[in-house]
Amino acid sequence: MTSEDFAERRAKARARLDAIDPHKRAGGLDADPYRRAWFEAVYELAGDDPAGVPWAGLAPHPALSQWLAGRALAGLRALDVGCGLGDNAEALAAAGARVTAFDLAPRAIDWAKRRFPESRVDYRAADLFGAPPAWRGVFDLVHELYTLQALPDALLPEAARALASFVAPGGALLVISRARDEDQRIDGPPWPLSRAQIESLAVDDLRLVSLDDIPADETIVRHWRALFRREGGK
Ligand SMILES: C[S@@+](CC[C@H](N)C(=O)[O-])C[C@H]1O[C@@H](n2cnc3c(N)ncnc32)[C@H](O)[C@@H]1O
Repeated sequence: MTSEDFAERRAKARARLDAIDPHKRAGGLDADPYRRAWFEAVYELAGDDPAGVPWAGLAPHPALSQWLAGRALAGLRALDVGCGLGDNAEALAAAGARVTAFDLAPRAIDWAKRRFPESRVDYRAADLFGAPPAWRGVFDLVHELYTLQALPDALLPEAARALASFVAPGGALLVISRARDEDQRIDGPPWPLSRAQIESLAVDDLRLVSLDDIPADETIVRHWRALFRREGGK
């Protein structure tokens, strides 16, 4: 199989998925803000072909890999939100964390487990907006990559509260997202986040401790990497 085949199959999948995406239709954004059926359909229609999952890079995201380089997460409990096919969760586990990773789509979770049969990651099907109460306040590191930007702006406050709820006292939230200028008009989804939207994730007693503005290069477009911390802990 050549990489051209993959690119061609991915382009076809994107076209198919755009055609059934409520957020690509007039009125669909208000009618179906959470877009859950569409996310499930992505994995269903992909079958076993990762080219059918538009965001599946089949490798940890470089902005996460860079952040993890030289960092030891041994002994930390980490949560990967909207984990898709599991590459970022695996990278967190390889850095030493005890990782729970979840996705709305059970098919994504089954697929991740098949890809990483020896994995130490605890993969779960769960909804960010209705996660198990046992996850409240227990994770030393909560990682979110690309799920926020796949949701309409109106859901950001609810998503921010949900993310914050997982962070243990003294723990951190790491958000990686495509970036846009404040006045840049976006015809999403996805909707890259503005600086103000990233800053708005500092809810409850989370505090923004660093915000990296990662410039575009030949491999990726401009990104934010934001680290928030909750006071407290041992
Ligand atoms: C754009 S993809 C990013 C996947 C993964 N983080 C990555 O970078 O490869 C967003 C993921 O979030 C999941 N998702 C969407 N809404 C969700 C929700 N309410 N709760 C949990 N996962 C959700 C989707 O099924 C999808 O796998």
